[in-house]
Amino acid sequence: MSAKISVQYLGHSCFLVTTPKARILIDPFLTGNPMAAAKAEEVQCDYILVSHAHSDHYGDAVSIAKRTGATIVAAYELALHAGAQGAKVHPMGCGGGRSFPFGRVQLTIAHHTSSVEGPHGSISVAAPVGFLIKAEGKTIYFAGDTALTLDMELLGSRHSIDLALLPIGDNFTMGPDDAAEAVRLLKPRVVVPMHYNTFDVIAVNPEGFAREAAKHGCKVEVMNPGACVQL
Ligand code: NI
Ligand code: MN
Repeated sequence: MSAKISVQYLGHSCFLVTTPKARILIDPFLTGNPMAAAKAEEVQCDYILVSHAHSDHYGDAVSIAKRTGATIVAAYELALHAGAQGAKVHPMGCGGGRSFPFGRVQLTIAHHTSSVEGPHGSISVAAPVGFLIKAEGKTIYFAGDTALTLDMELLGSRHSIDLALLPIGDNFTMGPDDAAEAVRLLKPRVVVPMHYNTFDVIAVNPEGFAREAAKHGCKVEVMNPGACVQL
């Protein structure tokens, strides 16, 4: 069967998922991202999924949404925040799913924080989430920024995950050991590590993760920014 979905890694936690029906950009931190494989001014998309408000995820979401007319899909308060900046938005809540023209998106639990910088320090904007994306008979799990959590076992038992995108960078999210345990719980066919090596504080050699994750019978794809996997 020929591949219907292409998933391109644009660096850090940014991916461009292309299905026959839509281009879905996830966590578009491109401007100021030393690993970025695309320019915010040039990327084309129909939807932008944003896991949380931190600048290394929310990034260029509003400017890309305004230029392309893409809809930002995010947790309620973050969607309203983006809407107030002039973007077209679709607010959702953790655990909630919705059918879009390209497929279904469900928000999943992420253990992390979500904030923007205000004049007197950080202000929380919505709770962070991950995304379960179902399109063309395939299931993609984008974990966002999160700790290892037993909730992943529930995702692994209730969904047949074709591709899992997991943070491994440590310090702000799970590190390689916990991410390998997440692979055991999620049982994806393919896993791609993300959210590492962008900055010194999340410098991690992905080979240790790749070795441990492979022990759980999963194909590990360590992607360079710009590379694609096909589903
Ligand atoms: Ni974060
Ligand atoms: Mn982050």
